[in-house]
Amino acid sequence: MTKMISATPTDPRQPSSSRAGNFLFQDGFSIQDDAAERRWPNDAGVYAPAMDRPVNVGMLGCGNVGAAFAEFLLDRAPDIQEISGIDLTLKRIAVRDAGKKRSGLLAPLITDDVRAITDADDIDVVVEVMSGIEPAHAYVLAALRAGKSVVTANKELIAKHGPELYEAADASGVDLFFETAAVASVPILRVLRESFLGEDITSVLGIVNGTSNYMLTRMSEEGLGYSEALRQAQEEGYAEPDPTNDVTGADSASKLAILASLAFKRAIAVDDVEREGIDKLERDDFDIAARFGYVIKSIAKAEVFGAAGSGEREIGVQVFPALVDKSHPLANVRHTYNAVFLKGCAAGDQMFYGHGAGRLPSASALLGDLVTAADHLRRGTHRRVPLGSSAVLRPTERLAHPHYLKLEVTDAPGVLSEVSGVLGRHQVSIRSITQEDRASKARVVFITHRAEEGAMRQAVAELRSLDSVLGVGGMLRIVEA
Ligand SMILES: NC(=O)c1ccc[n+]([C@@H]2O[C@H](COP(=O)([O-])OP(=O)(O)OC[C@H]3O[C@@H](n4cnc5c(N)ncnc54)[C@H](OP(=O)(O)O)[C@@H]3O)[C@@H](O)[C@H]2O)c1
Repeated sequence: MTKMISATPTDPRQPSSSRAGNFLFQDGFSIQDDAAERRWPNDAGVYAPAMDRPVNVGMLGCGNVGAAFAEFLLDRAPDIQEISGIDLTLKRIAVRDAGKKRSGLLAPLITDDVRAITDADDIDVVVEVMSGIEPAHAYVLAALRAGKSVVTANKELIAKHGPELYEAADASGVDLFFETAAVASVPILRVLRESFLGEDITSVLGIVNGTSNYMLTRMSEEGLGYSEALRQAQEEGYAEPDPTNDVTGADSASKLAILASLAFKRAIAVDDVEREGIDKLERDDFDIAARFGYVIKSIAKAEVFGAAGSGEREIGVQVFPALVDKSHPLANVRHTYNAVFLKGCAAGDQMFYGHGAGRLPSASALLGDLVTAADHLRRGTHRRVPLGSSAVLRPTERLAHPHYLKLEVTDAPGVLSEVSGVLGRHQVSIRSITQEDRASKARVVFITHRAEEGAMRQAVAELRSLDSVLGVGGMLRIVEA
């Protein structure tokens, strides 16, 4: 058999074999079987040992998602072993209240001792399915520092502390996977981290909150008002009793921060995302949108400006309700479904569609991440989160879109040209005007060409000061096909 001479793996900057026992050390050199897989040490010069035994899993949390995942794992483990040889053993589950009634299969695994997961020698991978930022942040960091790979569903945690956790995972030479935190069962993060690692993604458009999409679908298609749509979403179990996170765009902003970071390979935090909720929409906006050939959706949008290789590029990240052209693929994403529409320089347009929430879709995404983490442990490797420096953000005022603007004006000669003149002075070019008379008033709807948000805001401020303008109704961005 051919032999290859390589530098000894005690040199932390040189590649090494992931298979234990492949090295013969001879005066600072080793002889390595060239069929062996080569791997590299992490930044601290640590080689994670490859594993040849069952992979032990510990969980933090056993609520809605956690219990579904644990049962799914127990159900699927035999098949996973048969198909891939990966032997997964669920060892222990830490919860807040160990006295709570749990399902029969899970009850014997329950503990309230978190350190029996994060610090225990017999746990290899930690699956975090608690919620909120603390203490989940402290527990995940402890697990990573203790050399355990982590799989988490926690979008708030990743959107706020992602870079710190990626660094901790890399320093320990372990994995940190969080597919469930973005669009649950839709495997978009894996695509961005692996398939599109070298692609130049230029924009990400997403419908990433099932609750608001469900409400907007009912409002568009059945004529429901906001309160009625919310009440029905709560009755169906799609909205929490406190729907704030979903209807204000906060949940979508966390997901967009994660998606945009991985799409553009730049650290983007949730606080970088400018957001508007769906709670200010007026009933007639839906009817007008339909007449113009649009449907109203809550859109998470991230865009990069400037050509690749032309220096540091600016990034814009926003969540807003928008008029989406009915022929755009996102217009057909209805009810609780989610989708992400990407533009890549070489790959072109791509759309990923599926369930962005729910206990079983979340369990599916968690299991996918767990199997990959376990496979990496078996091979003694890990996958870094591919991220460069922090993003340079383009200020919102300079982000441009076509707009929809609805005004109530006095029905008198010259008013339309006065209003159009204000828009023109602010470089807002009008694509169409529709006027509807209502007694002594008129409702005027403008559709503009692409205009910067700063210009639109200044124009609206000036319009508000005119005697002929009685009210400024909706101003919404437009997503063209
Ligand atoms: N629901 C979805 O569709 C969905 C989709 C994607 C991602 N996620 C994410 O999944 C995560 C879990 O959501 P969930 O709906 O399953 O939450 P949940 O039902 O509230 O469950 C939370 C679990 O964490 C445990 N826990 C809370 N604080 C703890 C502490 N200090 N120490 C130990 N255990 C603690 C709770 O213990 P007890 O059982 O004793 O109370 C419970 O088992 C969240 O990060 C969420 O954002 C959810």
